[in-house]
Amino acid sequence: MNLIQEKFAELDGQTITTFTMINDQGMEVSTIDYGCTITRIVVPDRNGTLENVVLGFDTIEEYQQHSPYFGAVVGRHAGRIANAEFTLEGTTYHLAKNNNGNHLHGGIKGLDKVIWNTEVVEEKDSLTLVFTYLSKDGEEGYPGNLKMKISYTLNNDNELQISYEGVSDQKTVVNVTNHSYFNLSGNLKRDVLNHKLTLKSNRFLELDEELIPTGEILPVENTSFDFLSGRKIMEGTDTNDSQNIIAGNGYDHPFLLTDNHNKEIYLFDDESGRGLIIETNQPAVVLYTGNQLADDFSIRGINSRKYLGLCLETQGLPDSLNHPHFPSAILEKDQGYYSVTKYIFTN
Ligand code: GLA
Repeated sequence: MNLIQEKFAELDGQTITTFTMINDQGMEVSTIDYGCTITRIVVPDRNGTLENVVLGFDTIEEYQQHSPYFGAVVGRHAGRIANAEFTLEGTTYHLAKNNNGNHLHGGIKGLDKVIWNTEVVEEKDSLTLVFTYLSKDGEEGYPGNLKMKISYTLNNDNELQISYEGVSDQKTVVNVTNHSYFNLSGNLKRDVLNHKLTLKSNRFLELDEELIPTGEILPVENTSFDFLSGRKIMEGTDTNDSQNIIAGNGYDHPFLLTDNHNKEIYLFDDESGRGLIIETNQPAVVLYTGNQLADDFSIRGINSRKYLGLCLETQGLPDSLNHPHFPSAILEKDQGYYSVTKYIFTN
């Protein structure tokens, strides 16, 4: 295992550092301490060719100007909260209305736009970056001083594990995830329309026009949302299913997982032979197929465009604060928040 630390940029007088973990197979994971943002994941294809499989930038300016959360940790509450407010014990908390009058991904300066402290833990067969941050009481409107610790571990089996731990000195809400956009073709040679996704999920959340859950949980059976035996992403981009159309001709939906830690999410690109297995302790995964990706910027020389990458955001259910039948995102005072997701790259 090897670790390279380099200066990435200066921001408001603070230095942003890139940490590149390299395992004995040559797999590389580059992360900056700005938002714990994964800027690059380099893995082999079926012929052993090492290429990058995530969307990312090489300058802080590009992240600030163009990034729709590329590779970042999002929170304190990932996804949307209707009307940007919630009530806890009789107190209503008002959050930033940063998406159509609703709240998205933690607000204006969420966990994705702060600089985290970093420690490195070296073991024989793995390397871990431990990111820590104190989100103060009232930050972005959320109650409680929330201590977050996020660990990125790369091992020699081409597995990247991300664990999220949090504790607050007041009752609050926490639902944190990583917002990486994957494209297994390598160096963005193709878009993700031909990627095949398999999900252990037989239900998904219905969305309204503002992409907010209506509260209805729909069966995937006989719909373009049925990924049980694998389905190509393109099959959801030209249907007349109102849920695909609402999402911008694609997917932007939470899927309820029927299994955990057991290959419940599997993405495969036949042309390169690359695969990605994702295992988690979370109840859901939001599949977002990059339907809103703008085309007025380039990513390392490749024009950005719709469907150039897809996200598989393992988390609790968006807007659960307004739907009592959803698993709760409420964290009691001094209660430990724990979420873990493993990304297993195959070729
Ligand atoms: C999430 C949302 C999408 C979009 C992206 C970021 O995945 O579900 O609607 O907002 O974030 O652009």
